[in-house]
Amino acid sequence: MVIKGIDIDRCNLCRECIKECPLGNFNKSNEDIIFDNSENCILCGHCIAVCQNNAIIYEDMKDVAFHFDDPFEIQSFDTIYKLLRSKRSIRQYKNQEVPKEKIEKIIECIRYAPVGMNKRTLKCLIITNEVKRNELIDSIIDAIDSEEEKEEYRRKRREKIDPFFHNAPHILVLHSNNDWDSKNAIIGITYAMLGAETLGLGSCWIGGVQMFLNEKKQIKKKLFNMEDEIFGIMIFGYPAVKYFRAPPRPPIMT
Ligand SMILES: Cc1cc2nc3c(=O)[nH]c(=O)nc-3n(C[C@H](O)[C@H](O)[C@H](O)COP(=O)(O)O)c2cc1C
Repeated sequence: MVIKGIDIDRCNLCRECIKECPLGNFNKSNEDIIFDNSENCILCGHCIAVCQNNAIIYEDMKDVAFHFDDPFEIQSFDTIYKLLRSKRSIRQYKNQEVPKEKIEKIIECIRYAPVGMNKRTLKCLIITNEVKRNELIDSIIDAIDSEEEKEEYRRKRREKIDPFFHNAPHILVLHSNNDWDSKNAIIGITYAMLGAETLGLGSCWIGGVQMFLNEKKQIKKKLFNMEDEIFGIMIFGYPAVKYFRAPPRPPIMT
């Protein structure tokens, strides 16, 4: 994936690419603006985004630019605020799978989340298969050190309770071998959650299991042949609960 340069027939010398490039890779040389990549380009694509005449030449980005309507309207604060405030962590799900198209849309939301230095190394695993999910739950329980705790979880399982994933039909796992992804995954999952909400789905972070699986590496290896670190787990599906109001929250301390 590379930025190749500038189509000089299209370039109107507005210099926006020079101002926008975070690494300073665009310069004015004689009559033209040139791209020299002296600082390794991070492929953030801000040059592509800011160029009024679409003059930036790139290849193999595995995506095409999304052109904005003119005027470009974003949602109002009230709409977004309503979404943010009404979204709950869902722990009751219908026994109903989410269609593939909606799952793909959720993954698309992660795709467009910001990541540090634009290093797009996160990988996504979605566990839908019930046998695999049960295998995961049982492996987690088997790996618990305390016999007492283990027995308590096994009792829950006999009562058909899923103590970790709240019987959600899908488990989304973000993983990689890049430590920066510990932060990137948080943002990725936040985007995924908000996208899921607009598709009529509920979701919830599953933080405890994430830590446990990173500790008990043999489970990841055995079930998913995974050596990566897990940086985020989100369950999702159709909510089996209806809320009538958003609960109060304390103000952010200043
Ligand atoms: C980093 C993080 C980890 C979480 N881990 C779990 C978890 O393991 N299990 C769970 O049921 N909820 C988990 N949650 C959900 C929180 O408990 C929930 O966000 C909080 O109770 C507030 O509820 P709300 O999201 O509906 O506003 C987690 C949330 C975050 C942000």
